[in-house]
Amino acid sequence: MNWPGLIAKYKEYLPVTEDTPALTLQEGNTPLVHLSNLSKKLGIELYAKIEGANPTGSFKDRGMVMAVAKAVEAGSTSIICASTGNTSAAAAAYAAKAGIRAIIVIPNGKVALGKLAQAKMYGAEIVEIEGNFDEALKMVRSVSETSPVTLVNSVNPYRLEGQKTAAFEICDQLGSAPDILAIPVGNAGNISAYWKGFKEYNDVRLTGLPRMFGFEAEGAAAIVQDQVIDQPETVATAIRIGNPASWNLAVAARDESDGKISSISDPEILEAFKLLASTEGVFAEPASCASIAGVLKQVKNGSIPAGSKVVAILTGNGLKDPETAMSQMEIDPVVLPNDEQTVLEYIEGVVKA
Ligand code: F0G
Repeated sequence: MNWPGLIAKYKEYLPVTEDTPALTLQEGNTPLVHLSNLSKKLGIELYAKIEGANPTGSFKDRGMVMAVAKAVEAGSTSIICASTGNTSAAAAAYAAKAGIRAIIVIPNGKVALGKLAQAKMYGAEIVEIEGNFDEALKMVRSVSETSPVTLVNSVNPYRLEGQKTAAFEICDQLGSAPDILAIPVGNAGNISAYWKGFKEYNDVRLTGLPRMFGFEAEGAAAIVQDQVIDQPETVATAIRIGNPASWNLAVAARDESDGKISSISDPEILEAFKLLASTEGVFAEPASCASIAGVLKQVKNGSIPAGSKVVAILTGNGLKDPETAMSQMEIDPVVLPNDEQTVLEYIEGVVKA
C-alpha cells in the first residue's frame, strides 16, 4: 500500500475535520531497526526508531504537518517558530508545500549546516538573533500574540498531536509497547507527545505502556537540575535549551511511567554518535545520540535490567550536521597519487592488517 502520510493514516486519533487540508510529504512510517550488535554487547533487546528517515530528516515533520494543516484550515497565511534547526526546516518545508509563508528565528552560529541549508532552500524568511533558543522562543511567542502569524513551536498543541503518532507506529512495529522508551529531551515536547501517544493507543488497543527515560545534555539539563539554565551549552545544538516549554508535561510523563530523566555529557554523546554509526551503520545527529548514550549509561548503572526491550528514538539524520561528524574523524582520508600500483599496494596493506 502506498503510505498516505500521517493525517490520512491516523485521522481517527487526530483533530482532523472535513475542512483540514490533506497536507502531506508522506511523513511517518519510519523504520524500527534492531540494533543487533549493541543488543548483544549490552544484554538487552535494543531497537532504534529512525526518525531521520522523515521527509526533512527529523521527527519534526510529524508535528509540523498537523500544525501547518490546522493553520491553513484556520485561514492563516504565515507561520512562525523559534528553532535550534530542525523545527525550522520542517516548518519551512510544510509551508512551501502548503503555499504559505514561514518565518524562522534561530540562534546565530548555533544551527547545524544542513538545517540552515534546508531553511534556505525551502524559502523561509530567516531571522538570526544574537541569543539562544529560549530567547528566540520568548520573542516569537509574543510576536504571535499581536501579529497575524501562527506559532508552530511545540507549545502549539497540534504539534504534540502529530508527534504522538510515532508511539502508535512503535506499538504496531513491535506488537506492543517496549519496556523502556529512551529519548533525547530539549524543549521537552517530544517526550510529552510520545507519552500521550502510548496512553491513547493503550486505551484503545491495550498495547501496554513503556517506562519513559529522557536524556538532556549535561550543559542544558534544566529538568534534571530543576532550574532554568540561562546559558545552555552543548555540542548537541538541537537540544541546547535551558528552559523547556513542556517542562511540566515531561515531568508528568516521567512520573506517571515510573521513568527517569537524566543527563549525558558531551563526550558521552559523541562517543555514542561514533559507536552507533560504526557498529550499526546508523548515522544520527548528535542530539539523537543522547538516547543511545543514555541507554549505555543506564544499562551500566543497572537502571535498565538485562533482557529489557528498549526503543531508542533517533530524532534526526546524521547528515544534518556534517561539521560535527567531520570534526570527530580521527583518521583523515589517505591521499595517494593517481597511480594504480601505489593504490594497490596501499589497499593490500589495509586488507592484510
Ligand atoms: N532531537 C533533535 C534532533 C531535535 O531537533 C530536538 C529539538 C530534540 C531532539 C528534542 O526534542 O524539543 O521535543 O524535547 N529540536 C527543536 C528544534 C528544539 O528547534 O528543532 P524536544
